[in-house]
Amino acid sequence: LFDLSAYLEDRRALVEAALPRFLTPAGGFVGPLVAAMAHSLFAGGKRLRPILCLAGAEAVSPGGKLELEPLLPVACALEFIHTYSLIHDDLPALDDDDLRRGQPTCHVKFGQARALLAGDALLTEAAVLCLNPEFGNGVGPERLMRAARLIFQAAGVNGMVGGQDVDVAAAGRQVDLATVEFIHRNKTGAMITAAVGAGAILGGGDDGQVQTLMDYGADIGLAFQIQDDLLNVEGDAAALGKAVGSDAALGKATYPALVGIEAARDRARELARRAAGLVEPWGEAAAPLAALAGYIVERSV
Ligand code: FPP
Ligand code: MG
Repeated sequence: LFDLSAYLEDRRALVEAALPRFLTPAGGFVGPLVAAMAHSLFAGGKRLRPILCLAGAEAVSPGGKLELEPLLPVACALEFIHTYSLIHDDLPALDDDDLRRGQPTCHVKFGQARALLAGDALLTEAAVLCLNPEFGNGVGPERLMRAARLIFQAAGVNGMVGGQDVDVAAAGRQVDLATVEFIHRNKTGAMITAAVGAGAILGGGDDGQVQTLMDYGADIGLAFQIQDDLLNVEGDAAALGKAVGSDAALGKATYPALVGIEAARDRARELARRAAGLVEPWGEAAAPLAALAGYIVERSV
């Protein structure tokens, strides 16, 4: 049986060791800005998107074996983009949250102006990380370009930012399930899908494999946000390192608000089962992805 917790621990350590190589504390005039970026980037987090990227590459590699080092810049770029989105999401103009990853949010600690710019800078540095032509060891410029395009498309209007905008517009209004699903698939699902898809591209997957892993990503991406909604209703704030109950207070468009807790949980589990079913025929190489699908809907943090 596949040992997911050992796998997650190992991959998380790899990402934790790589992140400081790509964001080194700086002195001089930009020192305070980099400190604000580092505050949020190094505050913890599951590092799920980088891990999904690595797992996507492993899934298309014979026996699940490949050298992970060349993938780390793109894997870490995903975490830069994710962290930027959290910093901006927590700002008073959006969710107005004080706590994230168990730490004061970036704007609480550094002020709104610097938090806004720290997010901007993380997004921009993510592009610099992805588009490094020195990237060696078999990940050539062609794969890199395709992976980067996938990631930045997912981050933009037709993905995370677009979904977030619809989410903001829906707050306090009565919306239907199709709208909630659009929001979830875009604000959260798009980057999760791109993480797995970019991994598949970097790992040398063929078009069919990349498509299968994008379908897998779309399912677990929606399931992930439904579980996030559920944890906001019934999760433990101390363990989560962020506030609970805030979605209801803000009148947010969530799955449990619309269909109830039981139906939301059933839907998340059904999506996870379907996702796992897509990769199970690949055997050992995709064992991490199959296990991750279950983890995403059973997690408590
Ligand atoms: C928690 O991730 C975050 C989400 C479920 C995503 C919600 C979507 C946004 C915040 C998009 C905001 C977009 C903009 C443009 C402001 P996680 O549970 O993986 O957190 P962790 O990394 O701390 O573990
Ligand atoms: Mg929020």
